[in-house]
Amino acid sequence: MSDPIKVFLTEDEMPRQWYNLQADLPHPMPPPVDREGKPVTPDMLAPVFPMNLVEQEMCTDRWVDIPEPVLEKLRLWRPSPLCRARNLEAALDTPAKIYYKNEGVSPAGSHKPNTAVAQVYYNKVAGIKHLTTETGAGQWGSALAMACRLFGLDCRVYMVRISFDQKPFRKMMMQVWGAECIASPSTRTQAGRTILEQMPDTPGSLGIAISEAIEDAVTSKDTRYSLGSVLNHVLLHQTVIGLEAQKQCEKIGVYPDVVIGCAGGGSNFAGLAFPFVCDRIHGKDVRVMAVEPSACPRLTRAPYVYDSGDVAMMTPLLPMNSLGHTFVPPPIHAGGLRYHGMAPLVCHALREGLIEAHAIPQLECYEAAVQWARTEGFIPAPETAHALAAAVREARRAQDEGKERVILLNWSGHGLMDLTGYEAYLSGALTNYELTDEEMARSLKSIEGLPKPPGA
Ligand SMILES: Cc1ncc(COP(=O)(O)O)c(C=O)c1O
Repeated sequence: MSDPIKVFLTEDEMPRQWYNLQADLPHPMPPPVDREGKPVTPDMLAPVFPMNLVEQEMCTDRWVDIPEPVLEKLRLWRPSPLCRARNLEAALDTPAKIYYKNEGVSPAGSHKPNTAVAQVYYNKVAGIKHLTTETGAGQWGSALAMACRLFGLDCRVYMVRISFDQKPFRKMMMQVWGAECIASPSTRTQAGRTILEQMPDTPGSLGIAISEAIEDAVTSKDTRYSLGSVLNHVLLHQTVIGLEAQKQCEKIGVYPDVVIGCAGGGSNFAGLAFPFVCDRIHGKDVRVMAVEPSACPRLTRAPYVYDSGDVAMMTPLLPMNSLGHTFVPPPIHAGGLRYHGMAPLVCHALREGLIEAHAIPQLECYEAAVQWARTEGFIPAPETAHALAAAVREARRAQDEGKERVILLNWSGHGLMDLTGYEAYLSGALTNYELTDEEMARSLKSIEGLPKPPGA
């Protein structure tokens, strides 16, 4: 069949190495620093992450071998299919061809397990017995819970209280996989107890949950912390998506004009996009597009600064576009896109002109998501809906210009655990949130006095 709807790879055709964009950057990225502006050394990160992952975080080799035990776990659901959204194309009456990489086929329902299995493996070989992490709506927590079970490690997830109460199903998934899921703030940590004394009724936040998970890791025996996005090694692990997509495109003789991913901390976007960014650096004519919510506009509006990854400033300072670590995001339903910062590698690629960034309001994303569900069947996660809305914009442009265009997007996860957002949209209760300049200026006060990255 010359023009199939789904393109598969065999397990033998799976990539055996991850791709590291750092090797091809025209200019190197600034390093993470401490509050005095001194570059962070590996030993400073050792209490939080195992040394093999710290080394990977700092590695600039172009290719990194994927260990066989990681490949074996990835094979439970990978290679993921590359699909063509023909019904959506017909509904939009566009000459564009829309392809999507379906990462919703993983056991936890998103791209997050790609890095979860790798991180758990590296912790296991380093002799670590327990992992801690935070989770917002629960995608990352459930992915890590699953991966820990596959490798026989214990997992403790600090889940933002409001999600813990309002979205019990992700918590139940974590429990099925044997993880302990704790509402944050909790009485388990000093950070949690302090917050609870000051604000007993707080709904919690990702920043508080990160502080709790890191404190738990550094104060417990044989325990380390695991992060689901932002860091270089996490983005590296996700490049299996783009490397598979390149092979799949080659099989059917297409090459994308534009590659699209939604961006929360940057990992699913980078996972699909960075192998194509490499092609772009080497002369290919391909546009690469990161899409964020207009309620949380890091790449499109926030300054490029050094900022901490969490509210309590337990992490080193990272060079990134940031709304300030005290930023309180508006309550949009795409919980995974509400982070104050963005992966340094993604921010650097933007500064180098290798990628472009777009912000899209919530209602347009839900409109695209519902149209997708009603044409292609699968119900997308609210985060994924941002990539879909951008693809719809591109398809409409192709129609206006009367040009055929190949669009490739990352379908980062399904929305079967996120139906309350759809309920709100369908009942007309959902609204857009546009971050005002005043709100942004207020939250940016938290970075005053911190060192500045070169050229910022
Ligand atoms: C389905 C899905 N897509 C995208 C994201 C955004 O994260 P990242 O930018 O790290 O891919 C999340 C985060 O939770 C998610 O669950």
